[in-house]
Amino acid sequence: MKETATRIAGFKDSIFGTISKLAREHNAVNLGQGFPDFDGPEWLKDIAYKKMQEGHNQYAPFPGTVSLRQEVSNYYKDFYKLNYDPESHITISVGATEAIYLVITALINPGDEVIVLEPFYDSYVASIKMAGGIPIPVTMHAPDFSIDKNELEKSISSKTKLIILNNPHNPTGKVWSKEELIDVAHLSMKHDLYLMSDEVYEFLLFDGAKHIPTATLEGMYERTITVSSAGKTFGLTGWKIGWICANESITKAVRLVHQYVTFAVSTPIQEAVAEGLKKLPDYLPGFVELYKSKRDFFYKELRELGFDFQIPKGTYFMMVPISKKTNLKDVEFALKLIQERKVATVPPSAFYLKSSEGEKFLRFCFAKKEETLKLAALQLKGL
Ligand SMILES: Cc1ncc(COP(=O)(O)O)c(C=O)c1O
Repeated sequence: MKETATRIAGFKDSIFGTISKLAREHNAVNLGQGFPDFDGPEWLKDIAYKKMQEGHNQYAPFPGTVSLRQEVSNYYKDFYKLNYDPESHITISVGATEAIYLVITALINPGDEVIVLEPFYDSYVASIKMAGGIPIPVTMHAPDFSIDKNELEKSISSKTKLIILNNPHNPTGKVWSKEELIDVAHLSMKHDLYLMSDEVYEFLLFDGAKHIPTATLEGMYERTITVSSAGKTFGLTGWKIGWICANESITKAVRLVHQYVTFAVSTPIQEAVAEGLKKLPDYLPGFVELYKSKRDFFYKELRELGFDFQIPKGTYFMMVPISKKTNLKDVEFALKLIQERKVATVPPSAFYLKSSEGEKFLRFCFAKKEETLKLAALQLKGL
């Protein structure tokens, strides 16, 4: 048999699949998986059901339903004073994951370089490689996961075309400050680079932290491609509705890819998400409060166990330093916790290409039922 394509050479099962399989085998509490172990809001599920009953069941227009693009446009205007035209600036995708793939495929030629800030969401590097591009990692350094401006600028070459930024940031829970964002924005303008801003956790912010979309920074509207999705915001990650907001020419390019990759996205679920977005102002306070209580509870438990780290201001992850507890690296320690404590976490070294900093941490996801978090805390006692 002939070999499979070289564009996927070196791809392995993702770390999430591996950890979840082990968690199942050892009957471990799974704080590795980056999604809630509870359901999203009943009212929104009811709307989805109603949309199906009302007959929204055939192919949607390929850029996305008119109502969803309109509601995406409305919330960017209401929340951030950003103007995106539903017709020419907004495209609906199968979650942010498809959005990331579309943007990279639409922009990157073989040999183009793309700056990825590590630790990164793993689909960035996979999409870059599938496009024949070259990922250039720049490390976000612990403990505050900041980047060194000079290091970033030195990583830019004549072949660099795109920088990928994720804010709020998975896996660290970091919320980028305006000054930090401006540093990256300046370099992208100075070197004429596109900037893809992955903002899927834009509403998961605590302690008064504010989301600053990269596209709102001076001079950045045209060159920023904003990617987001409904999965985290509504706790319905399986609905897989994402969107891309970009200027007209990038939107055209992205849609050319999208029409051949997935063509159209689930119609009734798009219609339901459109209704959900209308209700954001009422929905968000309770949503944030729910996750804040989970964060506070689990942070306290980890501190009592002797883990020493800053409480995350965003997302539903904690990037926890392990060196006070073990000499093991992240992968071995994660395996030990699954086997001996029946608690599964994600070893973040999988999210780095260059630095070994990830070996000194574990990622815990606190988007879990109270009983799940309590059980995990109990099983970790005395560690
Ligand atoms: C940073 C980041 N970007 C994108 C995604 C993918 O989002 P979606 O489920 O909408 O495809 C995730 C999911 O975990 C993520 O953490």
